[in-house]
Amino acid sequence: MSAAPETYDAIVLGAGGAGLMCAAMAGQRGRRVLVIDHADQAGKKILISGGGRCNFTNIHTAPDRYLSANPHFAKSALGRYTPQDFLALVERHGIAWHEKTLGQLFCDQSARQIVAMLLAECEAGGVTIRLSHVISAVTHADGRYSVTHGGRIATAPALVIATGGPSIPKIGATAFAYDLARQFGLKVVEPRPALVPLTLGGEDLLFRSLSGVSTEVVARHGKTAFREAALLTHRGLSGPAILQISSYWRHGAAIALDFLPDQTPGWLTEAKRGKPRATLTQSLRGHLPDRLADALAERLALPGDLGNIPDRKLQDAERRLSAWSFTPNGTEGFAKAEVTIGGISTAGLSSQTMEARHLPGLYAIGEAVDVTGWLGGYNFQWAWASGWVAAQFL
Ligand code: FDA
Repeated sequence: MSAAPETYDAIVLGAGGAGLMCAAMAGQRGRRVLVIDHADQAGKKILISGGGRCNFTNIHTAPDRYLSANPHFAKSALGRYTPQDFLALVERHGIAWHEKTLGQLFCDQSARQIVAMLLAECEAGGVTIRLSHVISAVTHADGRYSVTHGGRIATAPALVIATGGPSIPKIGATAFAYDLARQFGLKVVEPRPALVPLTLGGEDLLFRSLSGVSTEVVARHGKTAFREAALLTHRGLSGPAILQISSYWRHGAAIALDFLPDQTPGWLTEAKRGKPRATLTQSLRGHLPDRLADALAERLALPGDLGNIPDRKLQDAERRLSAWSFTPNGTEGFAKAEVTIGGISTAGLSSQTMEARHLPGLYAIGEAVDVTGWLGGYNFQWAWASGWVAAQFL
């Protein structure tokens, strides 16, 4: 171990999106910043994001698209560092981008460009980045934080927790942020996998035979609804609509899928008038993938010509098709979750600075904090915004 500790103005733990943004901006404000990460590469989640093209922000970013025990917490940071601010940075670096759908902005070429951009910004700020360094101890005394890592000790008056959440452990995600937060007296809101496929059992298992079928639905849980694609898998349900609703789902609750979001009430009885000799299966095949249409018609158990089925039964069938209820028996867990919901409680943090209220110099940013966005670039926008905000105070 080196004799004298190295001194910095700020130490950032975690070289993900939030940590790199924070370090770069603080460095460019003249701070001497050290970033430490145990992974062998910076920004690994950025690299695998958006199918390798990184959905780096969403132009419809708004606080109500984030889940947190305190729904107001994210307002300040999201308002001060906006998608347009990040886009301006992307454009300054000459990275070509496009809007895919629903305000989601992606790189034309590769997520690697976003990591390269953040590293270039860190370099412009003179930031020191240490990768493949295991953090063995973090202490606080006399107004300074000391971090022991790979045989060295670094100290600084400011420490930023940016080690994310435990989703996708195989690329180095850990619950380290929570342990550290608790060590320093911050509370942690129960972490749960979010933006995650849901698993089915019991009766719903029959849908397993439809693995690979995808269709546009409205997925509902309570008052929350998302209209996007759902994908039936061999374990249950996935696809954007399901990932979105999974963040709101709790064990034991049901979710409802509207398989025919474009059909207005009465469509089946109208179909009966128009084509009385068609079967329910045939009618459904006009709107849904064949295998799904067949499975749903089988479960609705209304055989024969539509003309021979009473209107009342057709109306019941319509109602079931517009709110097909599934009670998932679980999720595919942190191994498959795009993000973690919950995390370091915002109750102990200032929304203006991201600093701990009771402990000067301690900051928490990014996914480590109990702020979780919808699918579609919202989580990176939170990482950039919270990192940028903290950097203004280091
Ligand atoms: P992040 O997890 O990125 O970084 C934390 C860093 O801390 C990592 O580098 C890790 O190695 C390090 N670390 C962890 N434990 C440590 C320890 N004990 N010691 C030292 N270092 C440690 N979001 C979005 O907006 N658009 C998208 O397209 C996608 N796509 C996507 C795909 C997939 C497959 C996943 C898993 C996730 C997404 N996301 C996403 C979510 C997004 O990746 C996520 O919200 C951000 O990366 C969070 O950034 P952070 O910097 O907070 O954490």
